[in-house]
Amino acid sequence: MGEYTRAGKFFWAYLKKYKLSFVIITLTIILATFLQVKAPEYIGRSISEMGKYVGELMAANAQGIDPSTVSKEPFFNVLKNLLIVYLLTTASTLIYSMLFSRVVGHSTNRMRISLFRKIEDLTIRFFDSHQDGEILSRFTSDLDNIQNSLNQALLQVLTNIALFVGVIIQMLRLNVSLALITMASTPIALIFSVFIIRSSKKYMGIQQKEIGALNGYMDEKISGQKAIIVNGQQEEVIEDFIGHNEKVRKATFMGQVFSGMLMPVMVGMSLFNTAIVIFVGGAMATDPAQPLGSLAVALGLVVTFVQYSQQYYQPVMQISSSFTQLQLAITGASRLNEVFDQPNEVKPEHGKKIDTIEKGVALEHVDFSYDEGQPILQDVNITVEKGQMVALVGPTGSGKTTIMNLLNRFYDVNSGAVKIDGVDIREYDLNNLRSNVGIVLQDSVLFSGTIRDNIIFGKEGATEEDMIEAAQAANIHDYIMSLDEGYDTVIEDENNIFSTGQKQLMSIARTLLTNPQLLILDEATSNVDTVTEARIQKAMEVAVTGRTSFVIAHRLKTILNADKIVVLRDGKVIEEGNHHELIKLGGFYAELYHSQFVFE
Ligand SMILES: Nc1ncnc2c1ncn2[C@@H]1O[C@H](COP(=O)(O)OP(=O)(O)OP(=O)(O)O)[C@@H](O)[C@H]1O
Ligand SMILES: [Mg+2]
Repeated sequence: MGEYTRAGKFFWAYLKKYKLSFVIITLTIILATFLQVKAPEYIGRSISEMGKYVGELMAANAQGIDPSTVSKEPFFNVLKNLLIVYLLTTASTLIYSMLFSRVVGHSTNRMRISLFRKIEDLTIRFFDSHQDGEILSRFTSDLDNIQNSLNQALLQVLTNIALFVGVIIQMLRLNVSLALITMASTPIALIFSVFIIRSSKKYMGIQQKEIGALNGYMDEKISGQKAIIVNGQQEEVIEDFIGHNEKVRKATFMGQVFSGMLMPVMVGMSLFNTAIVIFVGGAMATDPAQPLGSLAVALGLVVTFVQYSQQYYQPVMQISSSFTQLQLAITGASRLNEVFDQPNEVKPEHGKKIDTIEKGVALEHVDFSYDEGQPILQDVNITVEKGQMVALVGPTGSGKTTIMNLLNRFYDVNSGAVKIDGVDIREYDLNNLRSNVGIVLQDSVLFSGTIRDNIIFGKEGATEEDMIEAAQAANIHDYIMSLDEGYDTVIEDENNIFSTGQKQLMSIARTLLTNPQLLILDEATSNVDTVTEARIQKAMEVAVTGRTSFVIAHRLKTILNADKIVVLRDGKVIEEGNHHELIKLGGFYAELYHSQFVFE
């Protein structure tokens, strides 16, 4: 039940803004329903009037009166009313459906915006622990489900509840016994539909789960296609895929069997009902004891009730089948709520501002773990003086990128502190801190757009000269100019156009353009050709000159000139000193250096 109340609250939060629209929607639904249930009465009356007319015509003939004196007026009056009823029904239906679509469109739009805002406020921890596709699906399939089910199912439920009540009132008004006969089979229909809906809901749940598993499987295999080819696993992958696909088919089939059963059963019930109404009503209408006039009235009433017996079951059918769809909206709402419940980044209020870094940066007794109970960094102490360059080296997984994550507050330390000029970075204004810390990520990201867009990404209003200067410093200007379109080259699928090294050089240019006081470079691990490697090295040299910087390097050549080299292993600092000191020490660094030297 909690799920339903939460979903209700969620929807209400977005829908409540449109109270006036809802008042109009309610009024037009009531009007349309009233007219809709009024129509059969007029159809019945028109039959009655026609019957009376025929009766009077026959009487006039028998008595030798001129048949043209018998008036058709009452019959035409009823038809005129019927026409007005139909026109008004169409108009009011049009009004409420358009208003409803508008309300739903606006509110799902607002949901999408708040979701995106929320995403921009989330911690890096959230992104590290959720698949991109998983996050994206909340924007696509969940929001689509919400929009469709609100638009179709909710409107269906509302109009059909109105219709159901309207038909009952109208039937009771016209003829109590025929009304009761029409309603007599309701309990049986309800029992049937509850059973069918329950079963189909069960299989729909299984179906959704299996579809999720199938999508997950495809996502993983498509992005890992290269690994599949390299290992010759194509046949195995196809077989597993067929297995997943078969599970989806079975669940879908069972779901369809049950949900498909609802309509025929209900249609059958309603036809059966109509037959009873015709049988009982027919007995009334053909009672020879009645005068001709009232026989005609009774005949009209039967026609009316034949229509009601069909109208009466329609809402029951529609409401039942809309429930499955509403369920999708509720599931969607709880999946969106999962995101809204995530903690935001902690932003210190009235945080201190960094003017210029005067002294330097320090990690003091830092302990850190991504997941509780799995320590990654243990008692790490590193200091960097203003303007110095510190290099972090160590085997893969030793915690180099993790240290970078802490300097920028992507994550916060478990204990100890990261300090800039002796002040814990948690006391600084977060935006201010980040605008002073420039990071070139290990996996460089290029967005779709031109190269120009990508380089000036971090600095609004940067001039062409600034951009070119940054690109030159990053040693990528000449390469960019060698492209046909130069800086206007459009990046569509970043992976296809540029090498890892080129992407990293563009990221370096982007970062240099913001002229950060503290620079962190996380060198790309992937193999980079020697020319690009030399370029990266040169770019790094230019970038760190005169700047407080951390450089994470895999190729030790890059860092021979570092003021200090910190060697990490399993999250602990094991050696520290400049290149010559460490070589002299003959420890892990020396070993690493010599092994690389041998390879090169
Ligand atoms: N988001 C994360 N959640 C949980 N554990 C993580 C996460 N990121 C990294 N780790 C773990 O933390 C440890 C240190 O990883 P880190 O990325 O800092 O290594 P690294 O020194 O940068 O390695 P490389 O040289 O390969 O870039 C590894 O054991 C890694 O599995
Ligand atoms: Mg790393």
